[in-house]
Amino acid sequence: MNRRAAVWILGTVVAAAGVAGGIRKFGFTPEQKAFYANERTLNFVRPGLVLRVLGAEIAADGTISTTFRITDPMGVPLDREGRVTPGAVALSFVAATIPQDQKHYTSYTTRVQRSPITGVSATQAAADTGGTYTVLGDGEYRYTFRTRAPGGFDRTATHTIGIYSNRNLNEFELGVSYASATFNFVPAGGAVTKVRDVVKTATCNACHTQVSAHGGSRRGVEMCVLCHSPQTVDPDTGNTVDMTVMTHKIHMGKELPSVRAGGKYSIIGNGQRETDYSHVGFPANNRNCAACHVQEGPNAATQAMAMYQPTRMACGSCHDDIDFAAGKGHPVQLDDSRCAQCHRPSGQREWDLSIDGAHTRPEKSQNLKGIAIEIIEVRDTNPGQQPSVSYRLKDSDGNALTPLELTSLSFVLAGQRTDGPAKPGRDRYPPIHPRDSGGGDGIVFDYRGGLSERDVRRSGAAAGDGAGSAEKRDEVLQCGRESGGTAAGDCEPDQVQRLP
Ligand code: HEC
Ligand code: HEC
Ligand code: HEC
Ligand code: HEC
Ligand code: HEC
Repeated sequence: MNRRAAVWILGTVVAAAGVAGGIRKFGFTPEQKAFYANERTLNFVRPGLVLRVLGAEIAADGTISTTFRITDPMGVPLDREGRVTPGAVALSFVAATIPQDQKHYTSYTTRVQRSPITGVSATQAAADTGGTYTVLGDGEYRYTFRTRAPGGFDRTATHTIGIYSNRNLNEFELGVSYASATFNFVPAGGAVTKVRDVVKTATCNACHTQVSAHGGSRRGVEMCVLCHSPQTVDPDTGNTVDMTVMTHKIHMGKELPSVRAGGKYSIIGNGQRETDYSHVGFPANNRNCAACHVQEGPNAATQAMAMYQPTRMACGSCHDDIDFAAGKGHPVQLDDSRCAQCHRPSGQREWDLSIDGAHTRPEKSQNLKGIAIEIIEVRDTNPGQQPSVSYRLKDSDGNALTPLELTSLSFVLAGQRTDGPAKPGRDRYPPIHPRDSGGGDGIVFDYRGGLSERDVRRSGAAAGDGAGSAEKRDEVLQCGRESGGTAAGDCEPDQVQRLP
């Protein structure tokens, strides 16, 4: 059997088994190349990369240095240059600080990016270049940055070293292993008391498997925020790549007011490559802040505070049709000092001005009345007959509704064919629209299907084995602010919200 065939068969078996449970081989998952390698190669190469920052300091003259250790997953030290152990390890270093009076990072390591489109130059957070390595022991190194901390830097502020790295094992057909690590310290000594911990990497990874970017080696939100702060702007589009604004906008995607109005949201990054996020649909619903802002663990209180601090930047990222300075879409706000007076964390009512209230999801609402449909009887279901349905409509309080109060009402009849094997898409009746919604006594309504006799005969409907269902969608006028009423007339015009 040639090698490719062997791999293919293994791949098939693994794919099938992988579905059943998180299968691993030598600690590797079926998504990793090493999973498919033979044992001898694995024992020799030991793919994978573990990176730990051991310490960092900044000398009085601003010289920044950090010590770190690189090993394989078994803890065996790696040679950075790949001469003694398989695969060279490439490393990049970022040094950044959170100024005392601010909550975002400013990176000391930067580069200047000039846009060939706009001619604008921007100083962007970036990795250091041209620093020097000292070998301290097996797998242990010191890196001294070429970049120095600026004169008069605050020795008492939180500083962070970020390292992102990769171990190139392509020579052994084992792909590239990646690792990132960060290290917080206070140059003057003492404990780190201020950190930036707004969202957790694990929360993102619920959807992303592994949040990474720029080819894979930059991993984890702690790493992203060192560079993705208000400091860094894309000079081609003029968009900030601040983590808050960028993440909110990427996931709003096609729902961004600016995109809905015909615009696009994109960033032109490495090699002038444009990435357009205008198509992105967020599977979790953009009002669901908790999809990313999970508040638990040791920093839960800080995380909650962060999410509930309204600013023009954070709120204006999704609500990008507001011009706070010009008073477009919102009364004029020249700074962020008053936002929290009106937009509190949570309020009394759904759809009030509070941050929780404003983002109530309609399907989670306690106030929307909803609809309950009860199918009482389905008649005339023999081959050749036109089925008819008796049904009752109520809201969730038990009040009777009439079909005329609904925006739409559709019936679907599904059943097994009796004249042959079921074929996908053919054993389902076409949806029928309420052409003949009848009166009844105001509670029970009759509906006669619009199926032709031929349709019914062709699908071989047999009494008893079909299932009927009705689906309905309503559009509710909800006055969410003051009265909580459901009729448009109860509300001030600007308080009426139309919900799907
Ligand atoms: C509920 C699922 C979900 C969660 C949670 C989520 N994302 Fe995403 N994310 C998506 C989807 C869907 C896309 C669009 C993918 C596409 O269209 O290629 C996306 C795209 C992205 C992109 C741009 C495309 C890329 O892969 O480079 C980045 C960056 C990103 N997300 C970062 C994050 C970060 C950081 C978090 C946590 C704060 C997060 N995401 C949480 C679903 C999610
Ligand atoms: C060393 C600094 C640095 C780190 C660390 C970093 N980025 Fe970036 N990133 C940038 C810069 C600078 C740009 C903007 C490039 C431009 O527009 O000119 C950028 C652009 C992007 C873009 C826009 C599309 C693209 O690829 O150009 C996305 C998405 C992105 N970063 C996601 C992330 C995520 C997610 C992380 C963390 C896992 C991260 N970045 C870590 C510096 C960094
Ligand atoms: C797709 C993930 C995602 C969703 C959904 C999301 N956020 Fe965020 N949010 C982020 C990320 C990432 C940051 C920046 C984290 C960082 O810089 O450390 C952020 C930052 C913020 C900040 C700024 C915090 C600070 O201290 O700077 C506020 C305020 C905020 N979000 C509010 C909201 C609200 C309100 C919602 C829901 C309507 C929401 N977010 C939904 C990912 C998300
Ligand atoms: C992740 C994106 C996101 C962020 C961040 C966000 N919102 Fe929203 N917000 C939405 C969505 C989606 C809606 C639903 C209405 C819509 O489609 O415009 C909404 C609705 C609202 C409404 C109700 C608007 C109306 O027309 O009734 C208010 C008020 C509001 N947001 C305030 C805020 C404030 C204050 C912040 C900052 C703390 C914020 N939002 C941050 C996505 C966001
Ligand atoms: C005096 C009270 C008040 C202050 C102060 C205030 N807002 Fe508002 N905000 C409102 C009202 C009222 C609405 C309209 C709600 C609606 O349309 O349903 C609103 C709506 C919003 C919306 C949603 C707009 C939409 O419909 O898409 C956002 C986002 C928002 N405010 C952010 C902010 C931010 C950020 C600040 C501070 C810079 C701020 N607000 C200050 C009262 C206030």
